[in-house]
Amino acid sequence: YGDANQKVDYVFKVVLIGDSAVGKSQILARFARNEFSLDSKATIGVEFQTRTLVIQHKSVKAQIWDTAGQERYRAVTSAYYRGAVGAMLVYDITRRQSFDHIPRWLEELRSHADKNIVIILIGNKSDLEDARAVPTEDAKEFAEKEGLFFLETSALESTNVETSFMTVLTEIF
Ligand code: GTP
Ligand code: MG
Repeated sequence: YGDANQKVDYVFKVVLIGDSAVGKSQILARFARNEFSLDSKATIGVEFQTRTLVIQHKSVKAQIWDTAGQERYRAVTSAYYRGAVGAMLVYDITRRQSFDHIPRWLEELRSHADKNIVIILIGNKSDLEDARAVPTEDAKEFAEKEGLFFLETSALESTNVETSFMTVLTEIF
């Protein structure tokens, strides 16, 4: 985990987007600090955290940006996307609406971000299988149609969080 005393070969900016309460901030907390909180507060404005990893013998500093899903708390859109080389588009597998809004998020992303940005669609809260409202197949089909990577994650159980970030960072690389 720590960033201490490491020479950095690359800095990659990755942005998290998606509806409020889908778990963006907890995915980031899991990735950056291996932490998780059930009483996570809604994000206001923009926050970011970094973690330095080694990919193909190079030191890569992942700078992950997190903003509010709630419109009234959101930061300036163009500044948020500026310089981003990766994006994680997150919905909650137990809330259909958060999946139905994905095309809107994708549209915003495509109109503001670099056209070569690497995008992964993430269905979070896979630990809540009993409350599932979005079939895996629906999301997989959507991702294929749009040319996105796709994984289901659980920030709570730490499932696929690392893999999601590695998928994006390795592809950027
Ligand atoms: P905004 O900042 O408002 O955009 O929300 P957010 O997308 O950052 O959501 P946040 O990470 O704050 O998580 C919202 C709620 O979902 C919190 O109560 C989290 O503890 C919970 N949560 C996040 N990830 C998971 C998960 O993988 N499983 C379960 N069961 N709960 C989760
Ligand atoms: Mg948040």
